[in-house]
Amino acid sequence: LILTNNREKQNSFNMEQQVSINENIASNYKDVMGFLNEIQGRYPGAISLAAGRPDDGFFDVREQVMCIDIFAGHFASVNGLSIDDAFKSLGQYNKTKGIIADLLASYLLNDEGIDAAPEDILVTVGAQEAFVITIKTICNSNNDVILVEDPGYIGVSDFAKISGLGIEGIRMTASGIDLEHLEFKLKEQAGKGKKVKLVFVMPNYQNPAGTCMPPENMERLLQLSVKYDFLVVEDVAYNLFSYSGSRAVSLKSADKNNRVIYIGSFAKSLFPGLRLGVLAATQRVVSKDGKSTRLADEMAKVKAVVTVNTPTINQAILGGILLKNNNSLAAVNAEKIKAYKDKRDAMLAALQKHIGSSGGEWAGGITWNEPAGGFFIRVKLPFPVYEAEIEKAAKEFGVLFCPMSYFSLDGSAENEIRLTFASLSASQIDEGVSRLAGFLQSVACQLV
Ligand SMILES: Cc1ncc(COP(=O)(O)O)c(C=O)c1O
Repeated sequence: LILTNNREKQNSFNMEQQVSINENIASNYKDVMGFLNEIQGRYPGAISLAAGRPDDGFFDVREQVMCIDIFAGHFASVNGLSIDDAFKSLGQYNKTKGIIADLLASYLLNDEGIDAAPEDILVTVGAQEAFVITIKTICNSNNDVILVEDPGYIGVSDFAKISGLGIEGIRMTASGIDLEHLEFKLKEQAGKGKKVKLVFVMPNYQNPAGTCMPPENMERLLQLSVKYDFLVVEDVAYNLFSYSGSRAVSLKSADKNNRVIYIGSFAKSLFPGLRLGVLAATQRVVSKDGKSTRLADEMAKVKAVVTVNTPTINQAILGGILLKNNNSLAAVNAEKIKAYKDKRDAMLAALQKHIGSSGGEWAGGITWNEPAGGFFIRVKLPFPVYEAEIEKAAKEFGVLFCPMSYFSLDGSAENEIRLTFASLSASQIDEGVSRLAGFLQSVACQLV
């Protein structure tokens, strides 16, 4: 009884504790995934056209983790170790930049046409850690500004917001980042005495808008990076998922002036549980005393205090998969890409069927793009959708989707939504879009 009373006393004391946290989290941050998961939890029957996760039906986890043996054999022979000692070494703390940089250098050349030395490569804990390392290595003062696509990927903008860094959005066009708006912002920031250091872009199959930059826009962006002296950070999370038959061209492969930092992820091409990403930074840094170092080595200093090193066991699994497949993931993913293309086609067909052709007057003004790759379709609406409508759609129509405003720095883009087909079957896609059409019709008809 005494114990219980003490615990009760302690609990009531704890309840009253006021913990002061980073105010950027309290005031400047919206937990989008938490919000969507919470609604999904309350309406488990709702079909989610919101979750951008890959289809686990394509995961080959059991097979692929066994590839660690292939890597251990390779590691043993390269380092003159027994297999037992090779495994012991994999269990140890290891190099900050990673233990598979040589294999990743070949992979980048084979699959992305990028020529990077192993010394310029970091193996990271997902693309997300690579974003954090890049930002923390390059930006350090109140004067530094990061420019991002708007709408754009929240993994980058939310980190910048939480860190209290200067961040500005650049409008998106149907051909990716709006270069005129970018140049305007570069001049505007310079006029305010600010220094734009990083510009984040997804040149291919952008999340959330599904857009691609044509080669001439890529070229112009690279020219601007020289003229205004900033680095471009290229996020290629969906590059492999091209549905046109030809491979997406990475910006880094066209980077003659060495202005691009390349960030890739293995979450979609293998599986997210691996938590592996790759960062290629081929630039050099010259210190005040004239000493020149690799940017990748400076980044390693940051990585060392963020995650020490990327789990070597996971690196060994990826290393084994690469060794088994001649340092390319193209063949490993061929079937998967075809299946995602079919899903994209199924969603476009469903949009046409339930909104385009059979939609009545209510469907006037609803349009969508036809992405050439990736996981996302951008739908424009003649009316705004807010959080209350998301709840209504889940509750009354059994469908969930992502408002585009969640990906916008200032919460605008209310007249747009993002749909994804990635983890759904063809029949779920059709049913989900049919339910979405029901919801859109009800909102449109209320407005009349
Ligand atoms: C555009 C974009 N970049 C990066 C990532 C995250 O990659 P990772 O899981 O490797 O951190 C995602 C994941 O959804 C993404 O959509």
